[in-house]
This record gives sequence, C-alpha cells and structure tokens, in this order.
Amino acid sequence: MCGIVAYYGPDQAYDFLIKGLQRLEYRGYDSAGIALLNGDLRIYKNKGKVSELENVAQGQNLSGTRGIGHTRWATHGEPNTVNAHPHLSQSGDIALIHNGIIENYDTLKKVLIERGHEFKSDTDTEVLTHLIEEIKEQENVDLLEAVRLALNEVVGAYAIVILSKNDPNTLIAARKGSPLVVGISDREGEFYLASDATPIVEYTKTVTYLNDNEIVAIQDGKMTIKTIDNVSKSPFIQELEISLDALEKGGYEHFMLKEIFEQPKSIYDSMRGRFDPQNLTFAMRSLEEYASKIKNLDRIIIVACGTSWHAGLVGEYLIEEFGRIPVEVEYASEFRYRNPIITEDDLVIAISQSGETADTLAALELAKEKGATIYGICNVVGSSIPRLTHAGAYTHAGPEIGVASTKSFTAQVTVLTLLALGIADIRGKISRERLREMFAELDTIPQKVEELLQSCNEKCKEIAAAYVDAPNCLYLGRGYNFPVALEGALKLKEISYIHAEGYPAAEMKHGPIALIDEEMPVVVIATKRNYYEKVLSNIQEVKARKGKIIAIVTEGDEKVAEIADHYIEIPDTEDCLTPILATIPLQLLSYYIAVMRGCNVDQPRNLAKSVTVE
Ligand code: F6R
Repeated sequence: MCGIVAYYGPDQAYDFLIKGLQRLEYRGYDSAGIALLNGDLRIYKNKGKVSELENVAQGQNLSGTRGIGHTRWATHGEPNTVNAHPHLSQSGDIALIHNGIIENYDTLKKVLIERGHEFKSDTDTEVLTHLIEEIKEQENVDLLEAVRLALNEVVGAYAIVILSKNDPNTLIAARKGSPLVVGISDREGEFYLASDATPIVEYTKTVTYLNDNEIVAIQDGKMTIKTIDNVSKSPFIQELEISLDALEKGGYEHFMLKEIFEQPKSIYDSMRGRFDPQNLTFAMRSLEEYASKIKNLDRIIIVACGTSWHAGLVGEYLIEEFGRIPVEVEYASEFRYRNPIITEDDLVIAISQSGETADTLAALELAKEKGATIYGICNVVGSSIPRLTHAGAYTHAGPEIGVASTKSFTAQVTVLTLLALGIADIRGKISRERLREMFAELDTIPQKVEELLQSCNEKCKEIAAAYVDAPNCLYLGRGYNFPVALEGALKLKEISYIHAEGYPAAEMKHGPIALIDEEMPVVVIATKRNYYEKVLSNIQEVKARKGKIIAIVTEGDEKVAEIADHYIEIPDTEDCLTPILATIPLQLLSYYIAVMRGCNVDQPRNLAKSVTVE
C-alpha cells in the first residue's frame, strides 16, 4: 500500500518520478504528489491519480535533480489533497514520503503540539516530518542522525524518503516492515529508490533491497547504509531479472486481461525444471534440504490472505490427498492474534503474491519465533516474506500489475501441486505409477489452459452481457472446486462491485438457498471427475427455485449442459488439477462483467495490490 519513488543524480528527477508513480499506482491511487529540490523545495500534490498530478504540475517549475514521489492508499486521514504526500516539516524545509503506519503518531503529535508545532494534515506521516526537524534542532545533529533518532521513537511500519532544503546533496531513506529498493546506476552518483523494482528496471538492473531497521543515506553522491542502532552495513547488491515488456500492457486493454492470457506461460514457468517426468524426480532445493523434516512432520499450517488463502485451501486438499499430513489453512490476520499453538515440529507455509502482505508477514514472524520451520510461496523476488523464510519456492508468474490476482493464483496452485507431490514422494505416500500419471498430466496443463482461453473467451463475454446488471451472484463447488467457487466470487465482487458469495455446494441448503429466485445467477463448478452426481443434484435444487445456472463443465458433458442456462466447457483433467482450469473462465466472466459495468478493472475502488497495513 502506497508507492514511493525517489531520484538523486545528475538528471532532472521529474520524468523518473512520474513514470515511477505510474508503475506503482497499483499500490494505491487515492492521491499522488512529488517534491523537487533545486535550491528551493517545491511540492505538487493532488487527490486522485498520477494523471491528475501531471495536470497540476503542468506549466510549473519542475526543475530539480533530487526528487521524491508518492502514490497513496489512505489509512490515516481521508483521501484529499491536504493529506497527500509529501508532507513538510514545521519550517517547510524537510519533505517526507511514507508507506506504512506510525502507530504512536497520536502520542508524538500531542508532545509536538505542546512544543508549538502546527499540523496541516490528519496523517500519521506529517508527525514524523515534524519530529525529525524537532530532533535536528533540539539535539543540534545533522539530518541523518536526526532521522535515526526519530526512528528510534517511532512504533509502526515504514518505508520513508526524506529531502531537505538545507541539505541539497543528501537524500535519506529507511525501512521497517514496508519495502524499499535502491537502484544503483552505472553513472557515478545516480540512485533510484522505489517501493519495488518496477520503476527502476528501465534505468538500472543493479539494486540493493533495504532490510528492516536500515537507513540508507546518499550524501555527496555516495551511498552508505546503517541500522537505526547506528551499526554500519554493507549493501547486498544484486541484479534484477524483470524485463521491461512484462510491465507493459502489450496490446491488451487492461493488465488484468493480459495477465489472464499469460497463464499458459506463467503456469509453465512455475513448473519448468522442477520435476523430471522420465526419472520421476524433483528438482526443488527446498524439498531436498528439508527432506528429513518433511519425513517427520505431524502437521502443516498454511497462512495467507485473499486469493492466496484460496490457493492455500487447494493446497490443503492437495497435501492431505497426496502427502497424508494434516493441514490447517489460516487467515494470517486471525492466526497472528489468537495465540495459536505452534511448535518446533510444525511447517508453516506462507503464500503471497507480493511477499509484503503485513498480516502474512506478521504471522510468519510469530511462527518463526515459536521455532516452526517457515516456507514461502511468493511471486515477487526479493520481497520481505522470502527474505524471512527458511526455505521456499517462487511462483514464476512474472509481475502482476492488475490489482486482482489472476495468474498468481494459478501459479500458486501449480507450485502447491508440486510441493504436495514432493512431500508425498519423500514420505513414501505415492506410487511410481501415480507419480508418473501426475507428472504426465501436469505437463499438459499449460497447453490445456491455452486451448481453454481460446475456446471460452467469447462465451464468457456473451454470458457476462446477460448478467451485467445482476445485483448478487452465488458460486458453488465441492471438493477441489470449493476454493474455486470462493475465488470466483472474490474476483467478481472486487472488480465489478456485484455482491457475490462462494459456498461449498452442499452448504447451500443450510441457508443460502433462501436467496435463490429467478433473479439469482448461480455459478456452479460441475466437473466430471468427482462429486459429479451430487453437484448435479445441487443444480436441480437451484433450478427448482428458478435460479439461473451458469455451469463450468467438463468437455463433452451433456447432463449439466442440458439443464444449465449457460455452460462453459473446460478440458478434462485430474480432479486435483481442476482448480487451475476452472478458475480461468471465472476470471474472464468477472473481467467482462466489470468492463461492461464501466469499472476500472485494473484499479478497483478502495483496493491496493500490496497490503502492507494490518
Ligand atoms: C484478490 C487479491 C487479494 C490478495 C491478498 C493477498 O484478487 O489480489 O485478495 O490475494 O491481498 O495478497 P498477497 O498474495 O500479495 O499476499
């Protein structure tokens, strides 16, 4: 949540800042602002998107070889221009941008008000700007030391960048709990800072990710890093692997559509090189390193949020089916606050596209403290969760820019499938024959997804047109298709704002059936391999109450197709691989409904892609 960018170098900062903010807009789009330093310190900010900030900046003095920029997802203070970042200190000499939450801002603010400070905004961030200046003056220290001392008084999470009119050759940034990357240019004395690497990749591939409690200072063109306890650190420099193409829409109308259509590749990339179908072996380092732990496991706990939690549910079914280990799937936010029982014998798996979700991160920290082995399934390389875990496997879905998760879900399920099979293999719970069958089927999945995308796209559009004005929608599925129903409902509600709920199909009669009348569309995942007859009965129950059935069926199915109002065929596959295929028409259905309703599918209201607040 909230995106931050900064530039320090020989060039004018403005273009990098605006382009960078556009790339980070998925992190929040309530307001945007920049500060430029060129002798004087100028701030331009506005409620709304980066494009509106550009309008405000047009015709203004945009010179400055140092600059900071921010795109906001509001937490403290409503999303208006006054609360937009950057925020200034009491004198107006220090400008600061912030991603995170200063939890003790209220206490700090009261003390500062007593000392004569006047605040313009309702934000927690402005307090930090004033605090830094107060300490600088009271303690008679330089800016870097003032920042360090101020951060020692702060409780909460932050990635911050600071510019000061009185220190034109200095830029200071720090992080705790919110991400921050520093790009190091080939040109001496040129640096790019951002919440993630996407704004930076166009300029340099050499980066260092700041760790928690670290402060980076760029002074007179040189970079140094120290902790907030004043211990010097050497930066760990690495090369980015993201390509610029992956950050563009590539001819699609929206990132979400592009990302849906990228799934044959993202699924393939997530499994590529990780198993050998000939020799029936795995090439996953985490499995090798933790084989003895896995052999003796009594329990696995999966923690995640949102779509990643849905992938976790599929993971539960997979690991229990193949590995025969009990699995608990927890909302990270609930898990961390309910004093859960965690022991050194547990394996805790965190699933997260961004690798930055605050609740998931905190749940992992808790599990790690209690001695559990922690494992990450994340998409963003170098993000906070993979840096905390003992082991893990990246999903290689590539950058996901659309706020709604699509390709990251299918990539997560792909990795979880491999993990479940790997665990089963280590524990001797799967026969050679079954492993051969599974590998063979996995191999076909990218091609099946490709065919499915081609065959169902138009049909999804047609069905979307029929339900564009529906106020509600139910999603039903059993077994592996229950998490798919949850995911389908989440996709619809978050991008089209239609109220939607997912249920296990058999639960319908315990309450939701009361909602069904001729106005209610009911999406049922009714594939052939398992529970087919039972789901058929559930469909009859809906039909008897005049509900409208949109069925996801296995190719060649006649029974459901005959009674459904609409049906979409998906290729036949193993029951446990159905979620990967069945999710795809549900993504397209939501996408087209949202587009037809005129919604901003890539940036739905009130949402942000990287949820770095609790
Ligand atoms: C839904 C969606 C969210 C995320 C959730 C967790 O489309 O994108 O529900 O799945 O915020 O985010 P990550 O996976 O980054 O931890």
